[in-house]
Amino acid sequence: MVMRRACVLAVVLVMGGSALVGPAHAGRQFVATESDFECVTNWAQVGNLRVHHAKRKKLKKAVRILTKDKPGRKLPVGTIIQLVPFEAMVKRGKGFNPEVGDWEFFTLRPRRDGTDILSRGQDAVNFLGGGCVVCHQAAADFDFVCRDGHGCVDIPLDDELIRTLQEGDARCAS
Ligand code: HEC
Repeated sequence: MVMRRACVLAVVLVMGGSALVGPAHAGRQFVATESDFECVTNWAQVGNLRVHHAKRKKLKKAVRILTKDKPGRKLPVGTIIQLVPFEAMVKRGKGFNPEVGDWEFFTLRPRRDGTDILSRGQDAVNFLGGGCVVCHQAAADFDFVCRDGHGCVDIPLDDELIRTLQEGDARCAS
């Protein structure tokens, strides 16, 4: 009987302990909403990428990391990267999805006066029906940023088409 009570106490302690540790391990999260997205050509440009962070210092850091393009560097929580106006990856924060660098993947519908989020999370698929995570995992050494040459299966968009799509972003007109 005494043993049993000790056991119950141990279980309660362990559970209580993990509940306390859990949130601390999850880390600070950036949860993007529709108003975090805008005309992509307003954002910083690195090669063919458009990059945004609400904090100027963090944006500078993100731009520096992407410009240097060295393996092993991690982009700051809150970084948003877009190649085309209708897809985005957003750095959520530690513990969100460690298998893919805690990035959240989005499909978007840009409108003249805003943005609709069509899908988000690990199961988002791109305009060709391919899973974002499956492809981007190949670029693990570069914080899952594929670019040209980080090991991801290619997508059929050349730089000229990417530029045309960015400049044609419906949100840039107003
Ligand atoms: C078939 C593989 C594949 C799939 C599926 C895929 N991507 Fe990518 N993605 C790439 C490649 C390759 C690039 C780099 C293209 C370039 O720069 O020429 C890229 C680039 C990007 C970029 C710019 C940053 C970077 O990684 O270079 C974003 C943002 C992005 N993809 C988001 C998504 C989202 C969101 C999805 C799902 C909705 C998705 N991708 C699905 C292969 C893929």
